[in-house]
Amino acid sequence: MPDLSLPRRPSTCDNCHDQAKPRHSLDAALDRGCFHYLAPGDRPRYSAELRRVLRPGGKLLLRASLRTAGQRNDIDEAVIRDTFAAWRVEHLEQATVPSDTRLLDVLVVRLCADQNLARMASATSSGLRSIKASPQMRSK
Ligand SMILES: C[S@@+](CC[C@H](N)C(=O)[O-])C[C@H]1O[C@@H](n2cnc3c(N)ncnc32)[C@H](O)[C@@H]1O
Repeated sequence: MPDLSLPRRPSTCDNCHDQAKPRHSLDAALDRGCFHYLAPGDRPRYSAELRRVLRPGGKLLLRASLRTAGQRNDIDEAVIRDTFAAWRVEHLEQATVPSDTRLLDVLVVRLCADQNLARMASATSSGLRSIKASPQMRSK
């Protein structure tokens, strides 16, 4: 049985794309206010890097702001489900939460780095690639 009496010290990351941590070395990650700063094109790399450092079954707790620099951004449930297609979405809700100085509209999401789903996502994407590459399809 694991020793739960002494919580391990959380650490922070300087760059979420390169966490300089070994594969499967974290039980959980918390993103409070970083995801919405990423360019949409960087989201797959963010998702993949977090999957790499989280152990199978590890959790990502994400609080994604629906505004960037005061403007409504593109973040919604579809973006979350697309970015984290290889994860299990355990919880997703929109909420208005207090920050230091104001109220923030956010998505509160709990994701699980589920290994089976990752395999399915990978099989689906290679299946799609092979359909696109199929000569029979091209000749029709
Ligand atoms: C709104 S602040 C939130 C700060 C803190 N997490 C909190 O809740 O008070 C957004 C933070 O995301 C950080 N950030 C932006 N891009 C990042 C990236 N690529 N990797 C890691 N942190 C990043 C910024 O430096 C900033 O500290």
